[in-house]
Amino acid sequence: MPLHDTEFTTNQMSRWLREEDPDRLDQLWARADEERRRVVGDGVHLRGLIEISNHCRRHCLYCGLRGPNDRVTRYRMTTEEILECARRAAELGFGTVVLQSGEDPGLDPVETAELIHTIKAETGLAVTLSLGERPTDHLARWREAGANRYLIRFETSDVGLFADLHPDAPRGSVLRVQQLRTMRDLGYEIGTGVMVGIPGQSYESLTYDIDLFRKMDIDMVGLGPYIANEQTPLRGDLNSLPEREQVPATEQMASKALALTRIVCPEANIPATTALATIDGRSGRRNALRRGANVIMPNLTPEQYARHYRIYPKKSEAKKTARTEPGWMEERLRTIGRYVADGPGNRVNRPDVSRSGGPTISSGKPET
Ligand code: 5AD
Repeated sequence: MPLHDTEFTTNQMSRWLREEDPDRLDQLWARADEERRRVVGDGVHLRGLIEISNHCRRHCLYCGLRGPNDRVTRYRMTTEEILECARRAAELGFGTVVLQSGEDPGLDPVETAELIHTIKAETGLAVTLSLGERPTDHLARWREAGANRYLIRFETSDVGLFADLHPDAPRGSVLRVQQLRTMRDLGYEIGTGVMVGIPGQSYESLTYDIDLFRKMDIDMVGLGPYIANEQTPLRGDLNSLPEREQVPATEQMASKALALTRIVCPEANIPATTALATIDGRSGRRNALRRGANVIMPNLTPEQYARHYRIYPKKSEAKKTARTEPGWMEERLRTIGRYVADGPGNRVNRPDVSRSGGPTISSGKPET
């Protein structure tokens, strides 16, 4: 498995995902880190995350915010509260705010467009949206209002597994892949990702996920381990795959997926995700930054809301440090030879896709 091939085959990737030899893995981390430094540099972009609403109409089997979970206290932040958080992001020197929510039908498209417009006008920050699957006219309206980027994880490229995990989605749909294409055509930078180790995820299917990031030339990729949530139907016990096929939901496996993603999508912005910090509070984020990641998304959601944004257990605890001690981040980054980057942190060398048409993106069907 030569590490210096520019084109990793899916076969090589899946062998790397199964690799357990610590010396070989050190080579993988080093290669990803080298690629990260060469293409996106040592600066780490900070994106202020604002969890604007935890209402959700979807039934995703793994997620604590799923509509049918009646143990969640639901909230929707007011415009003024959201603006307050955005101003804080600007004061802290962040380049971007990320507005995230469940798939909340109560988020009015016109009001949301006004909010985006006001954030842009007042702070000049880049705005990333992560508001779930939305009709094209909403996406277009928000883009016109000034939103720069949109995140929606496709969760898996395996159509059957997607349908199992999303009982309310039309069977056989690769809707999110289509949505990502639409977003790109509208001029958004597009972000996606998957959970690593979700029950039913095979090494083969995770390999295809990473290959699909490459084929779609994704601008931002979020990867984190699946964390079982007792308040969901999936919990952790449902698993139909033989043990040797099932991807384990470990920090190391998520790191392997992250490192491979950096190698095959060298220009992408890749965050050290909260899920990684949650399963390994001591070194999850730092390891991710040394294995390909170049973005951190500190949580700016007011505590009274953040504690109800429990996609998985302990989520809010893992984020506390970032929220309460802003200087901590700079300090921690310095110890690993990195620094807080200036500016909005757009994708480097981005192809011009803002005009109609956009690039051709190959279909979601993985090659074998
Ligand atoms: N564990 C880890 N990540 C999860 N997500 C949802 N539920 C879980 C879970 N139990 C991820 C999904 C979603 C993102 C917002 O959070 O990938 O897209």
